[in-house]
Amino acid sequence: MTVTSVTARVPAKINLQLAVGPLRSDGYHGLVTVFHAVSLFDEVTVAAAAADRVTVAGEGADQVPADGDNLALRAVRALRETITGRDGVAPDAGGRGGAAVSIRKRIPVAGGLAGGSADAAAALVACNALWQAELSQQDLCEVAGRVGSDVAFAVVGGTAVGRGRGEQLTQALVAPVTYHWVLAFADGPLSTPAVYGTLDRLRGNAAVGEPELSAELMTALRAGDAGRLGAALSNDLQAPALAMFPALGKTLAAGREFGALGALVSGSGPTCFFLARDDRHATDLAVALSGEGVCRSVVKATGAVPGASLIAR
Ligand code: C5P
Repeated sequence: MTVTSVTARVPAKINLQLAVGPLRSDGYHGLVTVFHAVSLFDEVTVAAAAADRVTVAGEGADQVPADGDNLALRAVRALRETITGRDGVAPDAGGRGGAAVSIRKRIPVAGGLAGGSADAAAALVACNALWQAELSQQDLCEVAGRVGSDVAFAVVGGTAVGRGRGEQLTQALVAPVTYHWVLAFADGPLSTPAVYGTLDRLRGNAAVGEPELSAELMTALRAGDAGRLGAALSNDLQAPALAMFPALGKTLAAGREFGALGALVSGSGPTCFFLARDDRHATDLAVALSGEGVCRSVVKATGAVPGASLIAR
């Protein structure tokens, strides 16, 4: 039977650790990061079409490019090239090799939650099914790594250590514990390259060592100890994000005041996340943060959750 339309849902990520090394000659920074997928999802539907196109609806849709620069469309093209290279023929679903991609966003754009990368990962998983290409998850991750630094993680999900630009993944050994998070969305975006650039400027000529995985964080995750985890959260991009968006300092301070076990800027920001003791504490924290007026909006989320997956219809 020819499949004509497939939907995948895909989670946002937070970085429990983000250690950034020196600027490399290719314009990227070597890093060690601990990715953690949380239950805030975008949905991406792909349908057979004559040519590639994309539409975007939902949270921040007007800020997402709806042309060839769209990361999900770049993922579609990268997958098509891989399949064509392998089989010598372009994918053909119902006689039409293009993909009409519709993205429904709940993950804020340019929020440090890898929303664009998530959409690209969902497009890969959905097109793999639409075109019946049957690429393994490992093969999809290889394609994902060419599309963007965070795309491979959005394919895999869970909790994973990222190296290189972030695209080289190893699953982390963790206790089967669900953590309760509160995400505070900021008023406005932060550009990832600009935040990395500010980090380089803040570092100046100081010698920067190679990034290292936090043993304390990994011990906390292995033990499933939320208190230790909260104390071990760290992000080298937090200082530059705060320099560019000083109001985040108040958001983080408010969360700590309301008893968060840990408080951190996510990735390159400006979203801040807070670790709660349990679901009830997460609700209390979310209410308190909204009441303080220190962010645009808040959501509760749990983690870890799986990566991009097909939704049965
Ligand atoms: O790979 P991605 O397109 O997500 O990266 C966006 C930008 O973020 C890069 O062009 C680069 O300026 C910066 N970046 C970096 N080091 C990384 C990942 C991203 O400097 N490891």
